[in-house]
Amino acid sequence: MGVFSPLKNLFGQKEIERSSTTIKYEKRHSNSKQSSSSTAHPNTKITSPRTNVSNTSSSSKRKSDHSGYIFQYKHGRKYHTNAEVAYVLPHDDDETDRVHEQHWILSAALQCNYHAPVTEMLEKGIMVLDSGCGPATWTFEMGETYPRSKFHGIDASCVFPEDIKPANVEFVIGNIAKKIPYPDSSFDYIHQRLLFLGLTDSDWDSALKELYRVLKPGGYIDLVEPDFHALFLAGPCMFSLQNTLAEISKARSIPPAIAPELEDRLFKAGFKNIVVRKADIPLNHGGKIGELLWNDYRHAYMNLRGIMATSDPTFENLKAYEAHIHQCGEEAKQSKTCFRWYAVYAQKPLN
Ligand SMILES: C[S@@+](CC[C@H](N)C(=O)[O-])C[C@H]1O[C@@H](n2cnc3c(N)ncnc32)[C@H](O)[C@@H]1O
Repeated sequence: MGVFSPLKNLFGQKEIERSSTTIKYEKRHSNSKQSSSSTAHPNTKITSPRTNVSNTSSSSKRKSDHSGYIFQYKHGRKYHTNAEVAYVLPHDDDETDRVHEQHWILSAALQCNYHAPVTEMLEKGIMVLDSGCGPATWTFEMGETYPRSKFHGIDASCVFPEDIKPANVEFVIGNIAKKIPYPDSSFDYIHQRLLFLGLTDSDWDSALKELYRVLKPGGYIDLVEPDFHALFLAGPCMFSLQNTLAEISKARSIPPAIAPELEDRLFKAGFKNIVVRKADIPLNHGGKIGELLWNDYRHAYMNLRGIMATSDPTFENLKAYEAHIHQCGEEAKQSKTCFRWYAVYAQKPLN
């Protein structure tokens, strides 16, 4: 049994019942447009642990964890201390659990773990980089699925498991917007998902340049990000929540809507054969996926409360914040709100 098999089994076959939700994919090859559609898989129930934040205004403390890495503690949560990294979410057990669960939800909602046409290459054995790997759920699952390939995860913080891991998986700490510590043309395939709250505008340019450098000619890059502005049929509570986060992001030079920009940014970085897929996933309606995605969305916002309260002091009150988020969920259910996800893949030219 693999390291993450018990967690993976939360999505066991026995409860599979087809959801009525249809996810539309739009494909775009350099100059042409195609469309296809697919249906979301529903899943078994996953409960998101409640966040332990009780007070957003307590002071900040620096401590090293058992591995010696320095973290800072603010309002009861653990954060990175790297002044050159813009990432705003905590790095503690509760957030790690959320990111693990999010992986299984996204795999089911998008119906795959990757979008680029790399299956044969992965089966034969290639070098893969998981950029901003976090707790490495994707890296581990892919490592177990494709034992002939070698997987390297990189993250700015030591959030990945250092000791217990498949033999074909390695990790390194590094800021992808500065220097990815691998020689030119090291990887056949690069995967990067959910960096939208981690990279500033200029970080995106530098990171794509670095990723281009370490990718082999002919190799593929796969990027997956949500589009925070494309909330269809959202109610006023959810709009205000999204807008607050967008303002906080802008104040930190983090692009509030990176997903629709990925195609242009990849093109500018030199990538070719760019394909864009868009999936509108329901929030809190339409079956199991909608329910699970809402749980993740709610959990993510609970973990963002410290930073949200810096912009809206009413969010310092836990009960008021929870009530606001609960209201967002009710609105989403009634209005049938959908959240748009982008998967964009591209190739480094052969010469
Ligand atoms: C939301 S987690 C996503 C983890 C993983 N990609 C996934 O989809 O499960 C984002 C991760 O990006 C990392 N990150 C943010 N900025 C980074 C940077 N400049 N360089 C490397 N990693 C970064 C964070 O530390 C965090 O672990």
